[in-house]
Amino acid sequence: MLYTKRQEELQAHPKTWLVTGVAGFIGSNLLEALLKLDQQVIGLDNFSTGFQHNLDEVRSLVSDEQWQRFTFIKGDIRDLETCHQACRNVDYVLHQAALGSVPRSIEDPITTNENNISGFLNMLVAARDAGVGRMVYAASSSTYGDHPDLPKVEEKIGNPLSPYAVTKLVDELYARVFARTYGFASIGLRYFNIFGRRQDPDGAYAAVIPKWFAGLLSGEPVYINGDGKTSRDFCYIDNCVQANIMAATAEDEKAADQVYNVAFGERTSLNELYALIQERVQPHFPEAATAQPIYRDFRPGDVRHSLADISKARRLIGYEPEYSIASGLDEAASWYIQRFR
Ligand SMILES: NC(=O)c1ccc[n+]([C@@H]2O[C@H](COP(=O)([O-])OP(=O)(O)OC[C@H]3O[C@@H](n4cnc5c(N)ncnc54)[C@H](O)[C@@H]3O)[C@@H](O)[C@H]2O)c1
Repeated sequence: MLYTKRQEELQAHPKTWLVTGVAGFIGSNLLEALLKLDQQVIGLDNFSTGFQHNLDEVRSLVSDEQWQRFTFIKGDIRDLETCHQACRNVDYVLHQAALGSVPRSIEDPITTNENNISGFLNMLVAARDAGVGRMVYAASSSTYGDHPDLPKVEEKIGNPLSPYAVTKLVDELYARVFARTYGFASIGLRYFNIFGRRQDPDGAYAAVIPKWFAGLLSGEPVYINGDGKTSRDFCYIDNCVQANIMAATAEDEKAADQVYNVAFGERTSLNELYALIQERVQPHFPEAATAQPIYRDFRPGDVRHSLADISKARRLIGYEPEYSIASGLDEAASWYIQRFR
């Protein structure tokens, strides 16, 4: 497998990586994977939605020697000087820092815009000025907006349905303009509902999988927005980590100045997802067997169905997702069960 080969090459010739949003869900998983490959990692985070306990958990999963290769900068991507400082002597940037969540962006579009567009632009400028080898950034499936086609192919997008989707679309536009204007070609990864260890189950803007694990494990009510037939292409975190590493290290110049779907390539309805989570929780928490979800209104700004065509990422960056939704949920279940026990 190409990914295994790429990991061996990195281990033999370690690089310096900047991970923004390193204290968050995806960022802390990137940190863990990179440190386990003996890479040098600089992490940047302002702890707005990320946590020290995510970094502490990574610390407990790597050796002392590997942890020594990590430098943390507490700072904000809305500050250009901080971005410049963080990009110094970096080979690859994995830019994850942003404010996620469609409902949060509807509540507070200005703060989402500042973090996701101004912060993104600062990172592009800083990465360009530092001459980094490659910047890979977190784009989003929300960019498909109201386009009706399934599966989603990268070239066909519709109109954004939320302020959050606008910010992620603008990021892609800036990235393309930076390739054209300054010859600084980056890679955008349109994530489709990533899930797994360290995804925050708390707070008003928590994602569905951690929220439902938490609900079923603590006997709290679980809500389904809409009729439960809404569907998503849920993608386990280790697939997402693979996509980042493969994108950053892709040598084919055609692979750059592109966006890629990062998903598993299968559609699961919310009703099916509920059953899959219930099945995994029930052996540890028998009360979950009879728990019924509560149906409530659809959420504004949400797309109805989502399914990715992942052939472009397969072809150009050698992405081969290793975890299905079922095997990913097995992994996620053991992490949430341990946490809530
Ligand atoms: N999780 C998903 O399913 C998903 C789907 C599509 C896109 N994304 C994108 O992936 C990225 C990571 O998402 P996540 O799920 O890990 O979310 P997260 O909230 O767990 O992580 C984001 C991290 O960025 C940090 N951050 C936010 N604003 C910052 C700022 N101004 N300066 C410095 N740090 C800042 C937060 O403190 C947090 O640690 C985001 O760009 C998000 O929009 C995620």
